[in-house]
Amino acid sequence: MASYLIIGGSSGIGRALVDQLLNEGHDVSVWAREARDLPAAVAFTAYDVVGEADPDKTALPEQLDGLVYCPGSIDLKSFRSLKAPAFREAFELNVVGAVRCLQAAERTLKKSDKAAVVFFSTVAVQRGMPFHAGVAAAKGAVEGLTRSLAAEYAPTIRVNAIAPSLTDTPLAEKLLATEDKRAASAERHPLKRVAAAGEIAAMAAFLLSDKAAFVTGQVIGMDGGLGAI
Ligand SMILES: NC(=O)c1ccc[n+]([C@@H]2O[C@H](COP(=O)([O-])OP(=O)(O)OC[C@H]3O[C@@H](n4cnc5c(N)ncnc54)[C@H](OP(=O)(O)O)[C@@H]3O)[C@@H](O)[C@H]2O)c1
Repeated sequence: MASYLIIGGSSGIGRALVDQLLNEGHDVSVWAREARDLPAAVAFTAYDVVGEADPDKTALPEQLDGLVYCPGSIDLKSFRSLKAPAFREAFELNVVGAVRCLQAAERTLKKSDKAAVVFFSTVAVQRGMPFHAGVAAAKGAVEGLTRSLAAEYAPTIRVNAIAPSLTDTPLAEKLLATEDKRAASAERHPLKRVAAAGEIAAMAAFLLSDKAAFVTGQVIGMDGGLGAI
């Protein structure tokens, strides 16, 4: 049994991961702005990763074997209409928020002999896509952070990232709002569908687990082939 902190575990991929980790018998803590429908077994702390305050370290469990940082954005706009504040906001949410949470949890993670961190990127870093400049720039920084921290923390803490393509979560709701949009999105992928939250969460659970004990510094594409084919 292990103890995991899922930042942004109240919705989408993070929420699916919470269920999987609870089913495996692990202790799970979640930080997010709202608890929503989290089960009572979860230790929830309200925290806004882009707010004024750094995380309250007393909200950390005694023992921590893994941290997953889920907050992210999909702000798809033409580069012309994407002004500097939007780039700063994306960087704050995707990168600075992750830095704050990980720095708060670092000492607790270092007490574990199997600690792992998982971040989220996007297929739009590997593959150029129109209207993705803001999110691709921020997630490109997440990929840099992943490799830098994997080097700095080795051999104590493993650090990996997952780069999904379109996944059926509240974040992607507008992009999948009609049958036509869903079909067009599916058609763009070599595997002819979008991802389910549970299958991306399963990769995060694998990266946290001992089965991935020899995996660090990786950005795993989970994109139905879109990034490579
Ligand atoms: N869904 C996709 O199509 C897709 C594609 C590529 C990459 N990704 C990446 O995958 C990750 C997970 O995405 P998702 O689709 O599961 O997103 P989601 O359904 O929107 O869930 C995001 C989670 O982060 C929390 N969160 C958001 N802003 C926060 C803040 N300021 N402070 C604290 N918590 C915050 C949310 O809870 P509260 O709102 O209650 O705070 C929620 O629990 C993201 O990094 C995203 O960029 C997703």
